[in-house]
Amino acid sequence: MSGRVHGIGVGPGDPELLTLKALRLLREAAVVAYPATEDGESLAREIVAPHLPGGQREIPIPIPIQGGPFPDEGVYDRAAEQVLAAVAEGAAVVVLCEGDPFFYGSFLYLYARLADRCEVAVVPGVSSLMACAAVLGAPLAARNDALSVLPATLDETVLRRRIEAADAVALIKVGRHLAKVRGVLEDLGLAEGALYIERATMTTERVLPLDQAPAPAPYFSMVLVHRRGEAWR
Ligand SMILES: C[S@@+](CC[C@H](N)C(=O)[O-])C[C@H]1O[C@@H](n2cnc3c(N)ncnc32)[C@H](O)[C@@H]1O
Repeated sequence: MSGRVHGIGVGPGDPELLTLKALRLLREAAVVAYPATEDGESLAREIVAPHLPGGQREIPIPIPIQGGPFPDEGVYDRAAEQVLAAVAEGAAVVVLCEGDPFFYGSFLYLYARLADRCEVAVVPGVSSLMACAAVLGAPLAARNDALSVLPATLDETVLRRRIEAADAVALIKVGRHLAKVRGVLEDLGLAEGALYIERATMTTERVLPLDQAPAPAPYFSMVLVHRRGEAWR
C-alpha cells in the first residue's frame, strides 16, 4: 500500500484564493504538513483553516528563526521522513505552501527530499506576485516587457544592474532590505512611481507610498516598479 504527496499552493493569504483542485485535495487528505514557527504558528495553515474538514493528522514543520538566508537542513530531513512514513502507510498527504510551491516556495526544501522517493505532484497556487499586482491595480508587464523578479537580499550593485536592465521589476523579500531598495530606486529615478504593499490579500494588508514604507518592512512585503510608470503606457 502506498500513498501520495501533493504540494499545494494555498495562495497569498485570502482563503478564497485557493484553487478548486487544492481545496479538493485538502479535504481528501489524511495528513496535512506545513511550515510553522517554533511556537507552532503557521500562515499556510491559517489560510486553509476555514476549509479543513477536521480529523486530519497534522505535521507542523518547525522552521527556526535564525540569521542566515536558508533554514536548518535537519528540519526538512526529519519532516521528509515523517511524510514518507505516512505515505508508506497509504496516506494521502498534502504539504501546504504559501503562494505557489515552485515560486520561491518553502515546499522546495521538502520536494528535494521526496521527489526521488515517492510520488509527488504539485498544485500551483496564486502567487504573491499576481496578488500584489491585482491589489495595487498595477499590471506587471505588457507587450515585449522584460519582467525581473529580484530578491531584495541581493547585493546592492547586482540589484542596481538588474533593475537597470529590466522594464518591470518585482522586488520580493524586502524586509530588512527596504532602505537599500529605496536608495537604489531613488538613484535610478524610479522611486516616485514605485509601489509598496505588505501582506497582500490578508486582513492586515497595507499599501503605502514607498517613502512612507517602514524600514525594516514586514517579511510579507513587495515593491513593484515599471519603467514606463504603468505597463499599459
Ligand atoms: C519565500 S517567498 C515565497 C513566495 C510564495 N511562494 C509565492 O508564490 O508568492 C516570500 C516572499 O514573497 C512575498 N510575499 C509572499 N506573500 C506575500 C503577500 N501576501 N504580500 C506581499 N508579499 C508577499 C514577499 O516578498 C516575501 O518576502
